[in-house]
Amino acid sequence: MSDRDIVWPAADFSRVPFAVYHDPAIYRREQERLFRGPTWNYLGLAAELAEPGDFLTTRLGETPILVTRAMDGRIHAFVNRCMHRGAQLRREPCGNAKSHICVYHQWSYGLDGSLRGVPFPKGVKGAGGLPADFDRGAIHLEELVVELHKGVIFGTFSRHAEPLADYLGPTVISELDRLFAKPIKILGYQRQRIAGNWKLYNDNVRDPNHGGLLHMFHATFGLYRLSQIGGAKMDARHRHNITYNQLGTDDAEAEGGYGDTDKVYQKGYRLQDMRMLQNRKEFPDPVTLVILSVFPNCVFQQIANSLCTRQIRTYGADEMELYWTYFGYQDDDPAMEDHRLRQSNLCGPGGYISMEDGEAVEIVHRTTLPERDGHARVEIGGKGPIADQPNLVSEVPIRGFYAYYCELMGFDVETVEGAAR
Ligand code: FES
Ligand SMILES: [Fe+2]
Repeated sequence: MSDRDIVWPAADFSRVPFAVYHDPAIYRREQERLFRGPTWNYLGLAAELAEPGDFLTTRLGETPILVTRAMDGRIHAFVNRCMHRGAQLRREPCGNAKSHICVYHQWSYGLDGSLRGVPFPKGVKGAGGLPADFDRGAIHLEELVVELHKGVIFGTFSRHAEPLADYLGPTVISELDRLFAKPIKILGYQRQRIAGNWKLYNDNVRDPNHGGLLHMFHATFGLYRLSQIGGAKMDARHRHNITYNQLGTDDAEAEGGYGDTDKVYQKGYRLQDMRMLQNRKEFPDPVTLVILSVFPNCVFQQIANSLCTRQIRTYGADEMELYWTYFGYQDDDPAMEDHRLRQSNLCGPGGYISMEDGEAVEIVHRTTLPERDGHARVEIGGKGPIADQPNLVSEVPIRGFYAYYCELMGFDVETVEGAAR
C-alpha cells in the first residue's frame, strides 16, 4: 500500500490500516500535511523562557525548532537551521544568549531571527568576502507563527491555520485554563525514545480503556480503574481528547469486570510507602486524573498531583521521542513540591504507570510490521457516530483522531460504515 492508493477501510474510522504506522511515504506526507500543515503544535511553556534571551530547542514533527524570548519580551519560534549552509544553529536544549551564532562559519542572528553579522564581509585586502549585492536585511531565520494560551506556546508553519482558540475549542481551552490557572514552576524533564510510530502513542492516550487494563499500578492502587467515575470529552471535530476520572469512586458491581483479568487488579497489594498514591486536593472539581491530548503532538497530564506536558517528537515512521516537562505552581509549599517530585516517578521511561505505554507501542509496531494489509479494530465503546463517552470502557476518541487525520492527509474513506471486517 502507498499513500496514493490508500482508502480508509471504515467510514466511522473503526478500522486503522496497519500501513499508516509503517509506510515511509505516508510518514513523509504527514510531515508535510500535518506537522507543516494547518495544525497548532506544542513547542514549550513560557515559564521556560522567563527572561529576555532565554531560549529552548525542540522539534515540530522532525523539524528542529528554536524558541526564543526577545528583548521586547515577545516569544519567537524559528526553524533551528542556519540560513548560510543549513547547519543546526543551537545545539543546547536551553540557555540564555544575546544572539545565536552558528558554529560552522560564525554567522550571528538576533533574538528576533534577523541576520546580524557575517565574519570578514569584505574579505581580506579587497579580495573575498560577500558579493556586492548581498542583502543582509533580507536574510532571516525561517519563522513560525506563534500563539500562546495561558503560557502554553503553540506554533504553526501555516499562514492558513485557524486561530489557536478556534483550533483548540472551548472544551480544551477550559481544561488548559484549569491546569494553568496559576503561575507555574518548572520542576524537571524526562525523555523517552520509543521504537514505534508516533501515532501509536496518540492512539494510546486516546484510549481510556487501556488505562485500567495495561497499567497494573493504576488498577491495583486505584489511581484509575475502569469501574470508577470517568469518561472522555472531545472538541467539536473530535481531533483532541480529554480522558478523566475520579479515584475512590469505584462501583463494586463494575469492579467485577476485572474478574478474570491477568493479575491486573491485585486487591491485596499495599505499598510500604503509600505517599506515592496521595492526592492532595488542589482543583475545585473532583477530577483526579486528566489526560488531555491535543492533535497532533502533545498531551497535558494531571495524575493526582503529578502535572506535566508530554510532547511527541517524530524520528521517522518507526521511532519517536516523548519529551516530558514536569511542573508545579509557584505558590507550592516545599512539601507539595516534594510530593510532586515523588509522584513524577509515576511517569517517564521507567514510570510505575507509563513504562507500559512505551512497551505497548513497541509490541504493536513490531507485530504489525509484516501485516501491512491488515488493520486495527477500534470498536470498544461502540461504532458509528463519534461522541463523548460517559465511562472509561471506550476507545472512541481514537476514531476521532483518525477522522481529522484522514481529512488533513487527503485519504479517501470507505463510504459504507463498518464495511471492513
Ligand atoms: S552554515 Fe551556519 S554559518 Fe555557515
Ligand atoms: Fe497508558
